[in-house]
Amino acid sequence: MELVSNLPVYRTVPEKYIFPPDKRPANDTVNHSINLPVIDLKGGCIDSDGRDEIIRDIMKAGKEFGFFQVINHGISTKTIDNMLEVCENFFKMPAQEKEPYYSNDMSKAFFLNSSTQYDKSQTRYWRDYLRITSYPIEEFIDQWPEKPEEFREVLSKYTLRVREFASKILKLIAEGLGLDKDYFSGDLSKGNIKMEVNYYPPCPDPSLTMGLLPHCDRQLITVLAQGTAATGLQAKYKQKWINVKPIPGAFVVNFGHQLEIVTNGILKSVEHRALTNSTVARTSIATMTMPTMDCLIAPAKELVNEKNPPMYKEFIFRDFIKAYDAALANREGVLEFFK
Ligand code: SIN
Ligand code: FE2
Repeated sequence: MELVSNLPVYRTVPEKYIFPPDKRPANDTVNHSINLPVIDLKGGCIDSDGRDEIIRDIMKAGKEFGFFQVINHGISTKTIDNMLEVCENFFKMPAQEKEPYYSNDMSKAFFLNSSTQYDKSQTRYWRDYLRITSYPIEEFIDQWPEKPEEFREVLSKYTLRVREFASKILKLIAEGLGLDKDYFSGDLSKGNIKMEVNYYPPCPDPSLTMGLLPHCDRQLITVLAQGTAATGLQAKYKQKWINVKPIPGAFVVNFGHQLEIVTNGILKSVEHRALTNSTVARTSIATMTMPTMDCLIAPAKELVNEKNPPMYKEFIFRDFIKAYDAALANREGVLEFFK
């Protein structure tokens, strides 16, 4: 079981975690003067006052960045912090307690692993992760760990809250696109909810390592909680990276490939990555709203016309997932296959 969270405290980075010079973070330019837009949901009840303004801001941020942060969304900071803490406590457990969960079996509703570069070098990322299927809760809860003690309870509550939040955001986006507000409420968002919990222990030299490879998300929409321990997430903006700075209690929202396809490219899934830092462990939780596996995906008819012909073919979501995994292994973009 090779986990970063099990390594002794090193003063230098072990060889197999050192990236070749051309793949190290210092090679790319970071634009420090741009911050992601922050949307204020004003407590989360957005039925009347200010709704149009919020929709306008979401669409503006979505079109320009494919990413935004949301504050005052109605989910307490405590609910988010409890979830971050219980996950962090999982990674801090002794190796033998984590061992039973170490796996790479995608059919499991809970597993722990640590990732490597998908190339011949197999350089290891400075990141351990949990992959959790968290919804429908009753279907999967028995596969979640019983330790830390409150894990199942905290994860259940968090899942329901984030699911509600994601569906609220999707309704606002649908309206912003001029679609029926429930356009995304059917099979497009009724698949299982998957989570990826990332854990990046402090790294002796962040300039030599990577936490998470540059990638675009495959699903419809991602809601990320990243705590406030350190900055690590970066998003691509006009060919440069920008830091996604932690805001207490905020969610980061970004679009996946499915939203890009359904909106016929109006909203884009944007590349992002995570760096390590030398002082504190950083935990982030990506919650992914997915279509059902049998869902037929295609650009919305309402968004297609003579001037804007469909940019993507119709396909079944299950086939997309297969192609995404293969493309990731070859470091190719997957969207090309569906044009
Ligand atoms: C992170 O912020 O640590 C990574 C976000 C992601 O899951 O892509
Ligand atoms: Fe991601």
